[in-house]
Amino acid sequence: MILVTGGCGFIGSNFVHLLRRERPDEPVLNLDRLTYAGNLENLLDLEGDAGHRFVRGDVADADLVAGLFARHEIRAVVHFAAESHVDRSLLGPGAFVHSNVAGTQVLLEAARRAWDGGGGRFVMISTDEVYGSLGPAGSFTEDTPLDPSSPYSASKAAADLFCGAYHRTWGLPVIITRCSNNYGPWQFPEKLIPLMIQRASRGESLPVYGDGLHVRDWIHVEDHCRAVLAVLESGAPGRVYNIGGGNERPNLEIVRLILRALDRSEELIAFVADRPGHDRRYAMDSSRIRRELGWEPCVPFEQGIAETIRWYADHRDWWERIISGEYREYYARQYEGR
Ligand code: NAD
Ligand code: DAU
Repeated sequence: MILVTGGCGFIGSNFVHLLRRERPDEPVLNLDRLTYAGNLENLLDLEGDAGHRFVRGDVADADLVAGLFARHEIRAVVHFAAESHVDRSLLGPGAFVHSNVAGTQVLLEAARRAWDGGGGRFVMISTDEVYGSLGPAGSFTEDTPLDPSSPYSASKAAADLFCGAYHRTWGLPVIITRCSNNYGPWQFPEKLIPLMIQRASRGESLPVYGDGLHVRDWIHVEDHCRAVLAVLESGAPGRVYNIGGGNERPNLEIVRLILRALDRSEELIAFVADRPGHDRRYAMDSSRIRRELGWEPCVPFEQGIAETIRWYADHRDWWERIISGEYREYYARQYEGR
């Protein structure tokens, strides 16, 4: 059985679907706290699937996690669960320490005790943001020193260091993946692409931070999930794998592309105060995972973004339900007076 944490969030739910599709004989235990970002609707089509079991709970709850390891034969952990949004980490960093740092350490400890006699595999889903920011040239390799800018990325870097420590000290077979910005179906509409799609669809202003020339390296979530599966099955314990789309775009270009696709005016663009500590540019050197595991991204950006825009049009009920709840209060706190 594979323990997937955070399997009701954006990337986690896409990964659970991939596993159930591609590895139907491998049961999945999905541990998710169902925070504002976790949504069981993302997994509705798995209702009645005996190979998918959902447990609602906190990865930082040591008794709960130890109980899961005691009751189930967990041969691998794929750890997605985290507070994932940089802007929220500026509004309240404490939750990021709890879920991302303490939560990861609790899982590592439970895995260490359960796999004491050998075996097991622990895949830590980290991020390119642990490396900090790039200038106009170059890209992050796995040897780039950690230099996180935000409370979010600091919490992910701390979690990565705990992973390294458990590997070095106790030989726990931990593998770390660091991926660039994902887009695709089921992404919570606080992140750039779904935020802009839903606001443009409703004819609302599109808040672009600073000059809009910050660059991200976009990858389709399906390509990320296939990379994680390759690492789970063939990655070397103790190793870090960078995963990137090789697709760098300034934010403004993404926003303009969405406006064109939805036939909306560029007058909706509203330049707002920059994000404090905003990383200027990310770019990933993914040559290690390409060379060693034979992975490469398959979804061309133009195709992926067009499909994603269509997906949000077809799933308007899903995101309208989200933006009618807690989200409204968050949006007001994050953007009002900016
Ligand atoms: P998300 O915010 O959409 O989902 C996070 C999930 O984790 C939610 O289902 C939430 O309920 C759950 N969760 C949060 N805290 C928890 C806790 N204490 N216990 C149990 N469950 C908890 O996030 P995402 O965008 O899908 O990101 C998933 C992982 O991938 C994160 O670790 C993130 O750091 C990493 N990552 C994300 C991106 C990206 O572009 N979104 C890129 C690289 C890496
Ligand atoms: O790089 C990987 C990371 O990508 C992940 O580790 C994080 O979990 C994920 O949230 C994402 O972080 P970013 O901060 O890069 O993503 P976000 O969608 O918040 O912002 C993308 C870019 O768009 C960034 O330069 C900030 C800008 N932005 C974002 C929002 C929400 C805007 O200009 N306006 C906005 O309203």
